Amino acid sequence: MPPIRIPKSVRIIGTGITPLNPRSPAKHAVLAGQKVSPSALMQQALRLALDNAGVSLKDLNGLIAVPSLADTHFMEAHYLATQIGLLPGKSIIVRTVDTGGAGPVTGLLEAKRMIQMEGADLVAVVAGDAVKNLSGEEFLKRADQTCNHPEAELPSPVIPSGYDRVAQYQMKNFGTTREQLAACSALMSIMASRHPSALTHTPRTITEILSARHVAPVTSVLECARRADGGAAIILASSSFLERKGLSRNTGVVVVGGGEASGPLFPPKRIEDMSEQMFSCEEAAGVAYDEAQVGVRDIDFFGLYDCFPICLIRAIEAVGLAPKGHGGSFVEEKYYQIVKGLERDPDGFKPQDVFPINTHGGLLAFGAPWEVPAMYNIIEAYDQLTNRAGPQRQVRNARRALVYGNGGIFSASAVAVLGRGS
Ligand code: CAA
Repeated sequence: MPPIRIPKSVRIIGTGITPLNPRSPAKHAVLAGQKVSPSALMQQALRLALDNAGVSLKDLNGLIAVPSLADTHFMEAHYLATQIGLLPGKSIIVRTVDTGGAGPVTGLLEAKRMIQMEGADLVAVVAGDAVKNLSGEEFLKRADQTCNHPEAELPSPVIPSGYDRVAQYQMKNFGTTREQLAACSALMSIMASRHPSALTHTPRTITEILSARHVAPVTSVLECARRADGGAAIILASSSFLERKGLSRNTGVVVVGGGEASGPLFPPKRIEDMSEQMFSCEEAAGVAYDEAQVGVRDIDFFGLYDCFPICLIRAIEAVGLAPKGHGGSFVEEKYYQIVKGLERDPDGFKPQDVFPINTHGGLLAFGAPWEVPAMYNIIEAYDQLTNRAGPQRQVRNARRALVYGNGGIFSASAVAVLGRGS
């Protein structure tokens, strides 16, 4: 058997992102005449990404999609491929991946494997959902079912309650404070206020967050992933595809390494029964760092999943930015540094110099269409590495980025390390 030839590099060569909560379909040409459905958002995002990459739909020989909650289809990627006319067709690999919120990063790593091992050379990864289009009651009916189990005894809202239980574990075992949790949301709102497409336009304070309506004992409504509608997509290509199309070998950003790991679907009922065993981001990050042959000091930008403050705090520890148990104090310290910096010099101070993490505002403040948001982490990383983030958000000399997606209640972790084109 001849040896398998692994192409040198797989690159993200284009990205597409729809507006969040597009209430008026007529405003957006691609959506004209269509209902704002997850599938329409996926299609719009895919077309934007193809245009951005300068390639056409018929160039694709791989399509990966993550399922939506608002309008779930059996074999989501096949459904999408049929809608856009890729199927029926020949020589195309179509695959649905479902690792919950980790899906876009799992999809990115799956696309890399498709290109390196399965003969594809141009693959799209697509996500879209319209959970804000659902009534609050309908959303909770569906969301509550995803991570619940009689053994977990989680009250509705199940997902915020599950993360809240883990936040209480962190407070009890590592002394994380209620203010430190709130500082995560306050800091994300500062970041979002600097991104033109984010849902959150005005920074909120720790006091405002703590006095907002609580949906679980240590979680206020302003500390929940912000329910939204939106779609996002990325296009990945092999080096031989770029060569064939006469595109520069340094186009876009390189997928340097990746890792995945799993945890339980739901946390134990009693905080006393929780242990460090249930977390998987550290393991996934370790595999990604090893494959990329880099460490935390080599990373200039981090796109970390932050559906709830505890997720961001645990991620900061897992990727090595703070020692275990110190993620809360790390965020709080950076938050006050940023607030003071902005008070001193509102126009010149750059929060990203102090906190090169989630410069778009993350799930807590940018917006969270169910399984889409990890794609925003990837797209923000792409913008940072290609120097497109603009003066408000650009991280100086960003050469490498780490992106993390989390599914369920710490049930799936996918981490990728990306690098600048040249
Ligand atoms: N920041 C600012 N404002 C917020 C906010 C946030 N993070 N979250 C809610 N609000 C405010 C907004 O003003 C919002 O209205 P608009 O967005 O229209 O302005 C208002 O509160 C009402 O929000 P909802 O319509 O969502 O309120 P609700 O009362 O129906 O529900 C809730 C409240 C139960 C907390 C619900 O918002 C919720 O369940 N949120 C969490 C969503 C969630 O669990 N997402 C998945 C996270 S886990 C994950 O991502 C992993 C995975 O595998 C999917």
